[in-house]
Amino acid sequence: MPALVDPSDPGLAVQWPLPPQQPIHPGDGEEPGASSTDRRLRLGVMASGNGSNFEALVGACRRGELAAEVVLLAVNKPGCGAVARAERLGIPIQLHDHRQAASREGLDDALAASFRAVNADLVVMAGWMRIVTQRLIDAFPDRLVNIHPSLLPSFRGVDGVGQALAAGVTLTGCTAHLVRLEVDGGPILVQAAVPVVAGEDRAALARRIQAQEHRILPLAVQLAGERLGLL
Ligand code: GRF
Repeated sequence: MPALVDPSDPGLAVQWPLPPQQPIHPGDGEEPGASSTDRRLRLGVMASGNGSNFEALVGACRRGELAAEVVLLAVNKPGCGAVARAERLGIPIQLHDHRQAASREGLDDALAASFRAVNADLVVMAGWMRIVTQRLIDAFPDRLVNIHPSLLPSFRGVDGVGQALAAGVTLTGCTAHLVRLEVDGGPILVQAAVPVVAGEDRAALARRIQAQEHRILPLAVQLAGERLGLL
């Protein structure tokens, strides 16, 4: 039997960044705006859960792998794992409890105001378990990035890992992409492939996918910043 090749091996570089010359919007000929600078991006992060992707971003910034700093974490659940990580890492936290918001739009307006107040250049949805509205997308045009645990466009929405297992695919992975109104439907920035190992349970597969998420999310942020001429 031939040896199994692991496509998520970093040496195989299984990532497909959107080429810089490819327009984000079909029909656009021009790259958006500003001139390049050598300043660091100011990142806002939104999280609802454990926060491992949030911490991976902070780590990439602090190791100098990403020309950025995380200036604010917004959470919608008090006491979620991301809050404890932010406290340990010394990152400011704001709670935007969706149960207190009058509407989805109201929640998104409040989030946008918080990120504007700290002059965030880009905002990353790192495990944000709420559907966002056009209000937040318009507040950060082509500056709102999401991470999803499947090879989009397959297995959008809730439980991308479980959907992949149920479908019996032998290759899945994760995708970092720009956010559009269609859930998990925006332009893809970076993907990484993860093989499904026979007999593996959902938790084990999810762990291996998350390890790849932690690699590609900083790459995607860097790419998004470069595309906008911010880096
Ligand atoms: C990740 O698997 C991400 O793909 C999904 O939510 C999960 C968040 O994990 N959107 P964590 O909170 O970053 O550990």
